Amino acid sequence: MSFDNILLEKNNGLATVIINRPKKLNALNKATINELHTAFKAIEDDESIRAILLTGSGEKAFVAGADISEFADFSVQEGGDLARQGQEMLFDFVENLSIPVIACVNGFALGGGLELAMACHFRIASENAKMGLPEVSLGVIPGYGGTQRLPQLVGKGKAMEMIMTAGMITADEAKGWGLVNEVVPQEELLALGEKIASKIMRNSSTAISAAIRAVNANFADGINGFDIEIDAFGECFGTEDFKEGTTAFLEKRKPNF
Ligand code: COA
Repeated sequence: MSFDNILLEKNNGLATVIINRPKKLNALNKATINELHTAFKAIEDDESIRAILLTGSGEKAFVAGADISEFADFSVQEGGDLARQGQEMLFDFVENLSIPVIACVNGFALGGGLELAMACHFRIASENAKMGLPEVSLGVIPGYGGTQRLPQLVGKGKAMEMIMTAGMITADEAKGWGLVNEVVPQEELLALGEKIASKIMRNSSTAISAAIRAVNANFADGINGFDIEIDAFGECFGTEDFKEGTTAFLEKRKPNF
């Protein structure tokens, strides 16, 4: 599978997706969104993959936002379509992927870039990373889920301030706010991502996928997350992984998922 705007590497059960438009600070144009959708779908269909890292190429940016040059002359209808299609194809798609996706924020994560990082299951960042939702400085609002996911992660007050000021926060501030889980020097970022992924990959992938569904249900309208958790918990009892996990514990050995 070959792409023009992203790179996809697979190694020992871990897929690394790299957004690769460094000259445009990895801005998300339509082609890149399409390719990311294709890549994530292919990874989900590949049974050998148990975790995904998402990062940007170069040392400056994760993603500096949606590609402003593509939508500057859009109509009301086209603007709405852009947000809806992007949310469905990429942002909601990543959030609901059954395989854990860790955003490795290696530089600017602005606008759609921060929204993409927030759609991942969790985030780690390099010391030079800067995060923000600058859309109102362009006369528009976040349209790829930012008004919803930022308050979920940092609380309503901080989200309102970030959105209204269009300002950027540092990686350390983002960690203090709960937006990223860890901050490390840039050269250590992917190694940390791999270390966390290797811990995840030791566990049951069917149970992890059920946990993603249950946690996400907490943030979905009109759904009782406790009911989803009960159903998903029950379903685990019918899996090979449950048999292996409990048997291994009782036999005092490590499980082989
Ligand atoms: N869309 C399209 N192109 C973008 C872009 C975006 N969101 N962000 C950066 N680029 C392009 C620049 O136009 C420039 O292209 P050029 O060399 O062909 O002129 C290139 O990437 C490098 O960016 P530049 O602005 O020269 O780098 P900088 O170091 O001076 O500034 C930023 C870095 C991130 C502060 C600045 O690029 C910026 O503010 N980007 C837009 C952020 C934004 O508003 N995102 C939300 C969009 S909804």
